[in-house]
Amino acid sequence: AQVPVNVTVTGAAGQIGYALLFRIASGQLLGADTPVKLRLLEIPQAVKAAEGTAMELDDCAFPLLSGIDIFDDPRQAFEGANIALLVGARPRTKGMERGDLLEANGGIFKPQGQAINAGAADDIRVLVVGNPANTNALIAQAHAPDVPAERFTAMTRLDHNRALTQLAKKLGVTVSDIKKMTIWGNHSATQYPDIFHAEVNGTTGAKAVDDQTWLTEEFIPTVAKRGAAIIEARGASSAASAANAAIDHVHDWVLGTPEGDWTSAAVVSDGSYGVPEGLISSFPVVSRDGRYEIVQGLEIDDFSRERIDASVKELVEERDAVKQLGLI
Ligand code: NAI
Repeated sequence: AQVPVNVTVTGAAGQIGYALLFRIASGQLLGADTPVKLRLLEIPQAVKAAEGTAMELDDCAFPLLSGIDIFDDPRQAFEGANIALLVGARPRTKGMERGDLLEANGGIFKPQGQAINAGAADDIRVLVVGNPANTNALIAQAHAPDVPAERFTAMTRLDHNRALTQLAKKLGVTVSDIKKMTIWGNHSATQYPDIFHAEVNGTTGAKAVDDQTWLTEEFIPTVAKRGAAIIEARGASSAASAANAAIDHVHDWVLGTPEGDWTSAAVVSDGSYGVPEGLISSFPVVSRDGRYEIVQGLEIDDFSRERIDASVKELVEERDAVKQLGLI
């Protein structure tokens, strides 16, 4: 029998956690041949709720689930972790300044980075979902100097998937007709969903749409502000779709992106496309042999350049702010 893969999930008792854990345990994260062991991390007050979810996981009798352990100590939770999904984060509350938000999250992602450095498996892969995801990933990475930097990623796959559906609806095609969608920059309202490089039935997304007003006034804002629209409609933030995107991100990272297509993920920049080296920014990526690589050589016109730069500028400001706070 195969050795189970250790998957650590933080914020396990939260709403994304509830939508995520059952899918991991059912085999949707790593495929139907790979048994998994769940290691759940929560704050002490939420351990009991996580135990309740663990009872339900037991009650599903998933053949691939070979164990569940629950912790309130990051050192224990990341021990032996092969995959870490960092979902738990400190949300922005009313009146909270950006500095306070970054500081509060530093208090979470610094010790988690240290724990990953100390105890995770050699092949550890980290996906940060908790917001501000790109900068939280940067903080965790800074405290895990022994882990290769490219193992820390942040999630823009939900934005990517949102963009696919918006474009498909506009064109009256299915999402499978669209390849090479790209989200650039920060997972925030400044992100840039790019349809100039997307391919739809032999042409580009932009040419197929041929409607600049729709692009600038509908598509880009709809994708970028979708999170707020979900909160407005549902009374709670995206959970099942966020969990779905996390599954997609890790699945493609480990098992590869489909031939002839790419996806979007926030990965450490090597300076490609003028994004400062070391920033964790969203790019078009392919995964081969378990590594995400930035797609090279795309032509960026002025329209796209301006929007990529604006989002990257925000990431630089967040990085400078956490540097000033001594978090990286
Ligand atoms: P939630 O509030 O329902 O759950 C968060 C959980 O994290 C809570 O159970 C809390 O006890 C736990 N937690 C807090 N600090 C922790 C720590 N230090 N260690 C372990 N657990 C801790 O929130 P929800 O809806 O599950 O969202 C989680 C995060 O994901 C939020 O930051 C949200 O903004 C973010 N998000 C990111 C998306 C993306 O596309 N990147 C999309 C949707 C949400």
